[in-house]
Amino acid sequence: SEEKLMARIQEVKDKLGSDLFIPGHHYQKEEVIQFADARGDSLQLAQLSANTSARYIVFCGVHFMAETADILSTEDQKVYLPDLRAGCSMADMANIKQTERAWAALTEMFGETILPMTYVNSTAAIKAFVGERDGSTVTSSNAKKVMQWAFQQKERLLFLPDQHLGRNTAVELGVPLNEMAVWDPILEKLDYEGDLESIKVILWKGHCSVHENFTEQNIEQVRQQHPNMNILVHPECKREVVEKSDLSGSTKYIIEKIDQAPENSEWAIGTEMNLVKRLIKENPDKKIISLNPHMCPCLTMNRIDLPHLAWSLESLLTDQPVHEIKVDEKVTTYAARALDKMLDL
Ligand code: 13P
Ligand code: SF4
Repeated sequence: SEEKLMARIQEVKDKLGSDLFIPGHHYQKEEVIQFADARGDSLQLAQLSANTSARYIVFCGVHFMAETADILSTEDQKVYLPDLRAGCSMADMANIKQTERAWAALTEMFGETILPMTYVNSTAAIKAFVGERDGSTVTSSNAKKVMQWAFQQKERLLFLPDQHLGRNTAVELGVPLNEMAVWDPILEKLDYEGDLESIKVILWKGHCSVHENFTEQNIEQVRQQHPNMNILVHPECKREVVEKSDLSGSTKYIIEKIDQAPENSEWAIGTEMNLVKRLIKENPDKKIISLNPHMCPCLTMNRIDLPHLAWSLESLLTDQPVHEIKVDEKVTTYAARALDKMLDL
């Protein structure tokens, strides 16, 4: 039963005390997040992983986040992911072989003028690829700052793997759309309009399958039915959606906005379902709905549940802990370079 699982989880937490650290992403289920020692967005969780001294980090989030925690933690700290199937469809849209081939083609077109950068929602191997070439990682809460820095380094950027965060951030910095191109990793082809020489940002053709579900029609409907509603979306949404909404920002930004919003204010939120549900529950004085009336869950985030958490935690008390996430040493060195660049900015 649920109570039994909760008691088992609590028992391991009590036994391990400060040897155990459970970071939980804002998109995690309620049943899981209640056991998190810290909640945060991707950036906060990366920073916390760099600073914790716990022996065991049991990551309630998705695979790339656990990899990041392993890269940023010390040699003797171990990182676990309660369910190995908790991946990220966006991170899966760029693999290292495709990245190497894209880089070969793009450097042929543009010479040494490109700096690679990657959203943290990517594999450790891609972070290492970027770090090895002096680029940086970014998250949704610092993308603008990091992209500004990147433009001081090189003339052009290759932005992996989320075209929407890349495009939305570049638009914010004033880059015109006709100076952005899209690299299609399947067709191995660069799509652009106009003059190749004027391209400043090369976007990888990847997206988040959760945030793609928020549409312009959803916005039109809300504007019609709730004229006083503020529309607040995550920058993983398409440009048209971000443009037509009132505000956009990372999960941390969304939470802060709602926290500070006046009583009785009305909000339609374009982000993952578990977070929207939590905001609705924690803010009974405000009217909050999901921008897409069919709530949008992240199926892989949801793979972390009470049974997996209990199983994973209990295995720490045996000599065979399950699902350790261990990033290769060489990959760690270069990926850490890309992450440190971001964290130092
Ligand atoms: P943030 O936590 O950086 O807002 O990212 C959202 C996300 O999609 C995480 O997978
Ligand atoms: Fe990946 Fe999107 Fe799920 Fe985040 S919400 S883990 S980007 S699929």
